[in-house]
Amino acid sequence: MRAGERSLRVGLLLWLGTALVVLLALDALASYFTALHFANHVYDAWLIDSTRSLAQAVRVEHDRVKFQVPEVALDIFQFDEIDHTYFKVSSVRQGFLGGEPALPDSGPIAIGGLALRFTSVHGAPIRLVATRLAPAGTGDSVTVAVGETLRKRATLTREILLAMAAPQITLLAIALALVYLGVSRGLKPLTDLAAQIEARDQNNLTPVALSGLPRETRVLAGRINGLLERLGEAIHAQQRFVADAAHQLRTPLAALLLHAERARRAEDPRSEQEALRALQRSVERAARLSQQLLTLARAEPQGSSVVAMKPVDLVALARRVGEEWIPRALEREADFGLAVPEERVTVRGDEQLLGELLSNLIDNALRYGRPGGSVTVNVESGEQPQLAVQDDGPGIAPEERQRIFERFYRPPGSPGEGCGLGLAIVDEIARLHGAQVSVSPGNDGSGSRFAVIFRVAA
Ligand SMILES: Nc1ncnc2c1ncn2[C@@H]1O[C@H](COP(=O)(O)OP(=O)(O)OP(=O)(O)O)[C@@H](O)[C@H]1O
Ligand SMILES: [Mg+2]
Repeated sequence: MRAGERSLRVGLLLWLGTALVVLLALDALASYFTALHFANHVYDAWLIDSTRSLAQAVRVEHDRVKFQVPEVALDIFQFDEIDHTYFKVSSVRQGFLGGEPALPDSGPIAIGGLALRFTSVHGAPIRLVATRLAPAGTGDSVTVAVGETLRKRATLTREILLAMAAPQITLLAIALALVYLGVSRGLKPLTDLAAQIEARDQNNLTPVALSGLPRETRVLAGRINGLLERLGEAIHAQQRFVADAAHQLRTPLAALLLHAERARRAEDPRSEQEALRALQRSVERAARLSQQLLTLARAEPQGSSVVAMKPVDLVALARRVGEEWIPRALEREADFGLAVPEERVTVRGDEQLLGELLSNLIDNALRYGRPGGSVTVNVESGEQPQLAVQDDGPGIAPEERQRIFERFYRPPGSPGEGCGLGLAIVDEIARLHGAQVSVSPGNDGSGSRFAVIFRVAA
């Protein structure tokens, strides 16, 4: 896998792995508190017992409270290898009666009740249990408190946790392994599909088999099939175009050879001149054809040169291209004019390609329009700017209005020697600019008007 490339498998494993680890951490936290709860429960019970036993050593003598326990009993009570145990007995009237004076107070307790809390003595944390009694006839109340450091509790909690950790980690490892297997199995249809496509040679554009694919992968495979179909159509169209182009090129070249041969063998200067004129026409046709083919190739979306879309003023374009056509218009004795607004009409586009587009439209209008007729280049401003060429010639039959845009198509009986690519070029360039070409009779109902309608002004 290259750097920066995303892997579905790694992504899924990361997500699921993270989720598992988070779950396990939460579980460990819950286990810790459970362990702590039970450790406290067990040792609290023992502390409460001790407090109650000590409370029984409180006696009343001559209306005074006394606390007396044999030393040995106290030693047994306080004997503990791990924790320190402290006690304190005090009464309201007589104050401190015995034990560890530093043991903190337990707070208010009801007579006969119990109080449990965490506190500290001599800087060490302890658990404190206290009870309060009111010996009869004394009018006094005695508090007996027992405190114990927390080492045993901490040890027990740690032991419970350690005992639980091993199975948890094993569980995590098993879960991760299962997730890995599951993800690999789940992704198998994708890797199979990739292998299927990889194994093809570039000429095989038959659809990918959908049967046996899971639903999600089938969507992807369906899209790939759609693409393959469009690709097949495009390749087919390209092949047809190349075949047509080869055929179209052969015709003037064959004529060229023929006329050259005729000129070489001509016996008198007149027939030589004639052959040379025919030769020149063939050369012009071949030159025109190669020029048109090149323009078409440039206008195609996957054309070799990159199209630079810049603001183009249609009025200036019409003036510049129109001027180039004046000699030809004079030859045809056509009334050639411009109908453009005062202001600039700007669209985003490639100036050179738009020039080719306009040239082809003017060429057609002069070529197929009425000799001595009128040809007008028209620019219209507005939300959808227009570039149009109108003539007052014979117009185009409605049933031909679609087909004339096909490559190499010329309606039967078309005059002159065009190669049938001009309008295909116009269409391609318009499409490149997101514009639409419309053909209609001229404004007065005669002739034809080719308009290129841009979707937005720049
Ligand atoms: N303004 C027009 N008036 C009448 N017919 C037209 C007009 N423009 C085009 N046509 C018809 O449409 C056909 C196709 O035009 P197109 O420009 O695509 O090819 P062409 O002019 O024959 O060849 P070229 O590639 O040299 O331009 C023409 O042969 C012509 O019959
Ligand atoms: Mg043409």
